[in-house]
Amino acid sequence: MTSIVTDIDGQKRLAGEAAALLVEPGQVVGLGTGSTAAHFVRALAARGIAVKGVPTSEATAALARELDIPLVGVDDVTRIDITVDGADEIGPELALIKGGGGALLREKLVWELSRRCVVIADAAKALPVLGAFPLPVEVVAFGHKGTSRRICDVLADCDIAMPPRLRKRDGEPFRTDSGNLIYDIDCGEIADPSALADALKGVTGVVEHGLFLGLADIALVGGADGRVTEILP
Ligand code: 5RP
Repeated sequence: MTSIVTDIDGQKRLAGEAAALLVEPGQVVGLGTGSTAAHFVRALAARGIAVKGVPTSEATAALARELDIPLVGVDDVTRIDITVDGADEIGPELALIKGGGGALLREKLVWELSRRCVVIADAAKALPVLGAFPLPVEVVAFGHKGTSRRICDVLADCDIAMPPRLRKRDGEPFRTDSGNLIYDIDCGEIADPSALADALKGVTGVVEHGLFLGLADIALVGGADGRVTEILP
C-alpha cells in the first residue's frame, strides 16, 4: 500500500528513512548535511544500532549529538563504511551538484574516504541535465575578488557567460565551516561537467567546487507515490 506524498519534505524523509536501513551495526557512517541528510540522521538514531558518525558539518554534528549518535573525527578513522548525503541536483550517471548548504568541502572529503556513497533526494532533484541549480564554488577569502575574475575566465572557456555571485547571509559574506567564501554560478545546462570541474580546480584560490562526479554509488529518490526509487550510475 503506498500513499501520495506531495510535499517535498515528505519525499526527503522517505529517502532518508530508506537509506538508514542500509546501515549495518558497527559501521562508521559519514553523515551528510542539509534537510534530507537530517532525515537520514534522525532515522539512523531511531534504529538504535551501534554506529560511529563522521559529520560533514558543524550543523550535522550538533544534530547527531542531540540524538546521541557517537561521533568520531574524520582523521580518527581509517575507513568510512558508508556515507549518506543529500544533493541539490542529480544528473546522468549520478553526477551531482552539491553545496547549497555550504558544506561541499567537508562533504567531498568524507565522500572520498567512503567505501559506499548513497545520495538521497526528493524526486524534483533528479534531472536529465545538470545546471539549473547554481553551482557553488568554495574559495579562500584572501584575494577572492581576483579568484572570482579568474573563475570568470575559465567559465568563458566553458561557454558560461554568467559571472559568479558571492554568497551572502544576512547581508554579510557567507562563511563555510572552514572559514572560506562561496561563489554561486548560474551555469545553465552544463554540457561537460567533467571539463568544468577540471577547469575550476585549476583556478588558484578555488578550494573545491560542488560537482560530485563518479562518487555516488546509488541514489535513493523519494517520490510523490510514496515509493523510493533506486538509481544506479
Ligand atoms: C549541503 C548540500 C546538501 O546536501 C544539499 O544542499 C541538499 O540540501 P537539502 O537536503 O536541504 O535539500 O550539499 O552542502
